Amino acid sequence: MPTQTLTAKPKALDAAFGAEFIDCDLNAQTDCGWIGDALAEHAVLVFRNQSLDAGQLAALGRKLGEPRPHVLVNYRTADHPEVSMLTNVDADGKVDQFGVSRASAWHSDMTYDSDLPKLAILHSLEVPSKKGGTMFADMRAAYDALPEATKEKMEGLIAVHGGAAGPAGYRRNAPEEGPARADGGHEARHPAVRRHSVTGRKILFVNPMHTMRFEGMPVQESEDLIMELSGNATRDQNTYYHDWAVGDVVIWDEASVVHRNAGDYDPAERRIFFRTIVF
Ligand SMILES: [Fe+2]
Repeated sequence: MPTQTLTAKPKALDAAFGAEFIDCDLNAQTDCGWIGDALAEHAVLVFRNQSLDAGQLAALGRKLGEPRPHVLVNYRTADHPEVSMLTNVDADGKVDQFGVSRASAWHSDMTYDSDLPKLAILHSLEVPSKKGGTMFADMRAAYDALPEATKEKMEGLIAVHGGAAGPAGYRRNAPEEGPARADGGHEARHPAVRRHSVTGRKILFVNPMHTMRFEGMPVQESEDLIMELSGNATRDQNTYYHDWAVGDVVIWDEASVVHRNAGDYDPAERRIFFRTIVF
C-alpha cells in the first residue's frame, strides 16, 4: 500500500506548468510511482516543509531511479557521494561572493554526458533573506511554440554538448576556469528534438550552457540558433520562478525543463542546498 495515494490534488503553480503538493511528507513515502507520474505531467514538483538529511535524500532518489555521484567532485557529501552539497559557504564559513553567478545560465544537468539524467531533486537548507530563486522553463511548450519551418529545420538535427562549453557556458570564454571534474570534461551528441520517455511529447533539447553546436552547421550559425531558441524558450510566460523557503524540495524533469540559478540575491548571504541527480 502506498503511504500517500494522492487523493490530495496538486495545486497549480503560478506558471503555465508545475505543481505543488501540500501536506505530503516525502520521508514517509514508500511507493513513489505517483511522483514519477506527476513529474511526467507537470515537469516541476514543489513540496514545502520537508526535512531530509543526505541519506534520506539519497533514499528518495533511489525510490525514483538511480541517483549517481555528480562529476563535480568537490560538491559531493562524504557519506552519500550521490548527494551533493550546493553551497556558497567555504570550509572556514566564509561566503563565496562568486556563488551568486554559479549555474546562472539556462541549462539541463549533465547534457555533456551520453547517459542523460531523468530528474533532479533540490532541498533547501539555508536561503537568502530575499530572492535567490531557481528558474525553470518548459521545453515542451517551447517546442510546441516553434514556427513550423523551425520545427522542420530542427527535426533530425543532432546537437553536440560539452560541459559549460555552449555560448552561455563559462568554459567557452574562460576555458581554464571552473570547478574540478571527475571526467576531465567530455562531449556528447543528442537529438535537438527529443520525445519524453513517458508521455511521448516532443521536447526542444537545447540549452545555451552545454549545447555547443549542431552537427553539419558552422559554429557561428549554430551558436546564433542556440541563443535564439533558448531566448524564445525562456520568455517570462514560459518560465516559473521558485522562491525558496527553508525545507522546500523541488523535483524537476531533466528532459522537459531547463533551469538556472536566478543569481539575484545579495552575494554576501548564505545559500545552501542538498541535491541529487537521478537516472
Ligand atoms: Fe543545474
